[in-house]
Amino acid sequence: MLETIRWLPGEECLELLDQTRLPAEISYIKCSDYRQVAAAIKCLAVRGAPAIGAAAAYGLVLAAGKCRANAEEEYLAQVEAAARELAATRPTAVNLSWALTRLLQRASDAGTGDPAVLRDLLLEEAHAIFREDASGNRKIGEYGQGFIPQKGSVLTHCNAGALATAGYGTALGVIRAARNAGKDVSVYADETRPLLQGARLTTLELLQENIPVTLITDNMAGFLMAKKMVDLVIVGADRIASNGDVANKIGTYGLAVLAKAHNIPFYVAAPFSTVDLSLHSGDEIPIEERDHTEVTHHGGRLLAPAGVKVWNPAFDVTPHHLVTAIITDRGIVRPPFGENLKKTTRQGLQDC
Ligand code: MRU
Repeated sequence: MLETIRWLPGEECLELLDQTRLPAEISYIKCSDYRQVAAAIKCLAVRGAPAIGAAAAYGLVLAAGKCRANAEEEYLAQVEAAARELAATRPTAVNLSWALTRLLQRASDAGTGDPAVLRDLLLEEAHAIFREDASGNRKIGEYGQGFIPQKGSVLTHCNAGALATAGYGTALGVIRAARNAGKDVSVYADETRPLLQGARLTTLELLQENIPVTLITDNMAGFLMAKKMVDLVIVGADRIASNGDVANKIGTYGLAVLAKAHNIPFYVAAPFSTVDLSLHSGDEIPIEERDHTEVTHHGGRLLAPAGVKVWNPAFDVTPHHLVTAIITDRGIVRPPFGENLKKTTRQGLQDC
């Protein structure tokens, strides 16, 4: 499994696997300044909701290490300004602001103005976020693998694997766990236009572990389902509203509609840090729109007439009524999601 994020303790520096270069090249970006981390998040060198949360947390540690101030308040104000810059890089995945808020809370609870102490506390918190994500994904895998039949075929979209997290993955974590449980599981990976995370990243992860994977273009999913070649769909999430509406990579909504039409279960796998109970519905989730060149160009080559008008939302929202269940690190949440997500928050682990 490729390592997505690594903190180099002796060097006060963060290394990020440059996912824009995969699968052709394995290279890491060294970040010693939080602005480099922000740039890496923005250009998708590091991507996937949990991974950008963890990367931003380490980014804030880098910022804290460089802030200089005479008073605690002044110091915290500088750290908060860096957090705002990091949070603004990608608006849809709530894990980003969730991780930064967690670090800022730790700093303000500390009750000290000593920059060295604060910076160490922030690093401790960033490590905790990273560790919790990696172990949470194993739990998601354990809970979710029960949905995969002994011999099963899964369709997934984008990349919700080790590369998108601190390790193991969410949707791909469920597939890994099924495989580890001795199931004969095979995967169809949507290529995921425009940036091809499915073609470039999901297939790479699965091939590395000899999990059978077949790449399809996004417009083949309907026919695949009509031909009864897939038993279930599992995707990740960037933000889940309190009613169970799910924001995930553009194209997810279409898959959910197709799955419903073909009577195929549609599962979402995500850590609880992706749930945003402050939002009533998916209508309130901010959807990132990205540069038109991602659609008009590929590998530097123009694919459409110059000057054509383009719409490029990076995510869409799948309404909760199309979701069969949400597989979280605290257990499986079933409809009615409004009630059961809140219950899971209060009572912790359960199947409801
Ligand atoms: O634009 P990306 O590549 O960051 O989008 C990633 C996704 O949509 C993933 O499915 C989601 O973040 C979940 S990753 C565990």
